Amino acid sequence: MNRLSVTQLEKRIVWISAAFALVLLGIAALAVNFFHVGLPTCLTDIKPFQKGEVITHSPTHYEIHYVAKMWKFEPEDVTVPAGSTVDIYLSAADVTHGLILLGTNLNLMAVPGVVNYARVKFDKPRLYQLLCHEFCGTGHDRMAAALHVVDMATFTARPSPVPAAESTSPGYKLLDENTCLACHSTDGQPGIGPTFKGLYGQTQTLKDGSNVTIDDMFIREKIRHPKSKTIVGTFEQEMPETDLPDEQIDQIIEYMKSLK
Ligand code: CUA
Repeated sequence: MNRLSVTQLEKRIVWISAAFALVLLGIAALAVNFFHVGLPTCLTDIKPFQKGEVITHSPTHYEIHYVAKMWKFEPEDVTVPAGSTVDIYLSAADVTHGLILLGTNLNLMAVPGVVNYARVKFDKPRLYQLLCHEFCGTGHDRMAAALHVVDMATFTARPSPVPAAESTSPGYKLLDENTCLACHSTDGQPGIGPTFKGLYGQTQTLKDGSNVTIDDMFIREKIRHPKSKTIVGTFEQEMPETDLPDEQIDQIIEYMKSLK
């Protein structure tokens, strides 16, 4: 078979295109490193909407920043007193989600890079449920949060919320960053995948009928090749592929060992 001939002109076009791409890349690198132009992030870079939080403006005026992510809203549980005005801001950290506040006409889209806003006045004590109304993956149907509206006396008498105990272990951080915790809990709560609490050292049955001990080798193999060894009754769908370096997998294993 004859080789396709590349004309002089085609070669020139290829070289010019490549040079152009390189120059653009150079300009971007220069802008980021020397002029500190921020790269776009998945979540909006408009401060302060980078994490879920509640800001108190006055005893009857609150601002809630909801971050929707697979598959929860942050913050998950908010309490405000009856009679208060609440400014709700919503953004998404991964894919498009939605937010509907049952019992009100509040309905917002959670789009990465965008902040949506609505103001709601809550007159009477009631428990409101927030649901995601945009299909966003396997955990969509259980993506919910609670908004408690309580009378002022109950509100002022309630103990100040205790921040959730978040582990400072590097293994925990890796699990969080790689969204493993969307499917696996660390406190025994059931999820899409098995909870990590007490998992290390257990014996499990695989789909092919053989038994396996959850040890370093198994965890490493499972992270490297998610489709390789499926435990009976746990995964309805496979874990996503990751390419974590060995040291990071070691840190995850260390953390899993600590979850007795
Ligand atoms: Cu988030 Cu559906």
